[in-house]
Amino acid sequence: MTMLKLPGLIDPHVHLRDPGAIHKEDWHSGTCAALAGGFTVVLDMPNNTPPIVDAETLAAKQRAARAKAVCDYGIHFGAGADNAEIAASLAPQCSGLKMYLDQTFGPLRLDDLQSLVAHMQHFPQDVPILCHAEGRTIAAAIFVAELADRSVHICHVSRKDEIELIRAAKEKGIRVTCEVTPHHLFLTRDDCGDTNHRGIGAGKCEVRPMLASRADVEALRANLDIVDCFATDHAPHTLAEKESATAPPGYPGLETALSLYLELVREGILTLDDVIARCYENPRKIFNVPAQDETWIEVDVDAEWIARGAKMHTRAKWTPFEGRAMCGQVTRVVLRGQTVFENDCVLAKPASGKNIRPISQGEKK
Ligand code: DOR
Ligand code: ZN
Ligand code: ZN
Repeated sequence: MTMLKLPGLIDPHVHLRDPGAIHKEDWHSGTCAALAGGFTVVLDMPNNTPPIVDAETLAAKQRAARAKAVCDYGIHFGAGADNAEIAASLAPQCSGLKMYLDQTFGPLRLDDLQSLVAHMQHFPQDVPILCHAEGRTIAAAIFVAELADRSVHICHVSRKDEIELIRAAKEKGIRVTCEVTPHHLFLTRDDCGDTNHRGIGAGKCEVRPMLASRADVEALRANLDIVDCFATDHAPHTLAEKESATAPPGYPGLETALSLYLELVREGILTLDDVIARCYENPRKIFNVPAQDETWIEVDVDAEWIARGAKMHTRAKWTPFEGRAMCGQVTRVVLRGQTVFENDCVLAKPASGKNIRPISQGEKK
């Protein structure tokens, strides 16, 4: 048994659904899943019902998180068509500003160029802007950020042409960072299945960006040197929702991510230090995550297990990796000197997780 001691991992991109859809996940179940996966900080997306686009909706999310979280967290604010000034004023309470430039789950979508420009110009330089942008929209996001003389973070890059565009931008010295998800590194559209119902299944397979081709997966893997962060895009929906005729897009990912990242090390594509850079050092720098004292995770790198959604802490209770042989398991998580997870049990009490942008920086009581 080889035990590794690693820093508490940071996931800059999760959807914990609270408030608004706690039958899918809430701040307690979602942060329990985070600890089980080795994450001690998660940054939560704003596409709730209602979306997090003003002081009132932000305060409601802060209250829910404060009452239930068992790991530390940040809250990304949502860019709307006419809230650029409000977003800028609330930036000190947020871990980032999320812009949805292409279609995905929920009503937060920015269609017009004017609001893209307004947010890029108004939002403070020291808080990151993250974009859900696909294909040529990535070019628009990078260009408008460059004109506004600021950096931009591109979420869940999934295709060859996208990662090559980001490489070209970086080589020009343009301030762009990016993340990739485990599902876009390990699954292709061929894994969705066929009419004989082998594979993940059509509804369950729905995700944005969609799973891509083998060539796209290979291009992501060939360009990992310019990938700043790994992010799960943990997007829980219930099994019933995913098996319905109108399946919403998204996969839960917190509890399978680290084993998959370690698989890249076993395949010889990355070193362990490369994984730590993408799951801790780079997200910490990009999102200004404060240091967590006396915090670490212990991982049995040889532990073999089978991915089973039904056994997971997420309320989604399914995984696109169902039945897959995984290697590497989190055995213990210590947060601020306390053992908060051990033997597959969460020991931390609700409300023990802290907001990385705390009250002293403006959070309302
Ligand atoms: O598949 C996705 N699901 N992609 C997104 O961008 C949003 C997410 C969700 O919130 O379900
Ligand atoms: Zn997205
Ligand atoms: Zn997302």
